[in-house]
Amino acid sequence: MHRFFGPCLPMLKDARVLDVGCGKGTTTFYAALCGAKEVVGLDPEASGSTSGSTQTFSKIREELGLEQCILEPTDFMAYSTETPFDLILLYNSINHIREVTSDIRRDEAARESQSRVIAKIAKVLKPNGWVVLCDAGRRNLFGDLGLRSPLAPTINWKTHQTLGAWRRLLAENGFGDFCHNWYVPYIVPWAGILLDNPVSNYLTFSHFVLRGRKIK
Ligand SMILES: C[S@@+](CC[C@H](N)C(=O)[O-])C[C@H]1O[C@@H](n2cnc3c(N)ncnc32)[C@H](O)[C@@H]1O
Repeated sequence: MHRFFGPCLPMLKDARVLDVGCGKGTTTFYAALCGAKEVVGLDPEASGSTSGSTQTFSKIREELGLEQCILEPTDFMAYSTETPFDLILLYNSINHIREVTSDIRRDEAARESQSRVIAKIAKVLKPNGWVVLCDAGRRNLFGDLGLRSPLAPTINWKTHQTLGAWRRLLAENGFGDFCHNWYVPYIVPWAGILLDNPVSNYLTFSHFVLRGRKIK
């Protein structure tokens, strides 16, 4: 979580946060425990979901007494709010909102579909608000060789996009001040020296976190 939020972690204090595709609410509850005043967890239990995750969300919310966390079982593209958010989080969910299997750098229709998702993020975010997202990338050594990765055996790389493709779409929709990290397992933080770069990432986990500010 610390690596996911990175420099956005202090911004959680007193913030209004939207966690898109929250699942059982790990990021929702973490944001609340870091001081967010309201966190809306959005999840219709759609593509990529684990069955029963919304019940788990409600159970954890009650056990932790985090009344500022609200679960909305709504499709993000159908969601509307009168008050835009300070931060929007997408933890392994951005590719599921409108799933495409082609590369958005080459397929115009797929690019248009994902651009609508990014435009929606911009719409429900305040000016100067931040989006923080993480996902698997599209390119991985094992995937490119047609093999199942021992490090990410359940990932279908074709349903994901590259960090650069998401950053370009965000820039086209008024975002800037980007920063990113490549995946480092939390149990070996010292391995960041070896893993936090695009080459090691391609050879191993192919997973990234990207953050951007709504500047226009
Ligand atoms: C891979 S899971 C990630 C769940 C959670 N963020 C986590 O990391 O544990 C993707 C989530 O996105 C949700 N999802 C899929 N389509 C969605 C949509 N259109 N709007 C909001 N959430 C969606 C799924 O229901 C699922 O819970």
